[in-house]
Amino acid sequence: MSAGRGQETVRIVVDGRELEVAAGVTLAAALLDAGVQMFRRSVRGDPRAPLCGMGICQECRMTIDQVAHRRACLVTVASGMTVSTQGAVSS
Ligand code: FES
Repeated sequence: MSAGRGQETVRIVVDGRELEVAAGVTLAAALLDAGVQMFRRSVRGDPRAPLCGMGICQECRMTIDQVAHRRACLVTVASGMTVSTQGAVSS
């Protein structure tokens, strides 16, 4: 799904960069739709991204609104939300 014509959107900030994403979906879905492919890095530095999409694998953990280790697949995206990949996107 892409935030196309007529699709309601919200603005969020990912690693300091403003993104307009689809509203009414999980943060994980919104980020994937916006082209974000890495959500965090493992302790060894490997890129990680959502796997299960239902709260089990924890591969989508991110810092959301300054709360660490939240699962992006369980959080509905909201206007003004701030997200940190802890360098996964920008590196
Ligand atoms: S994608 Fe598996 S817990 Fe979020």
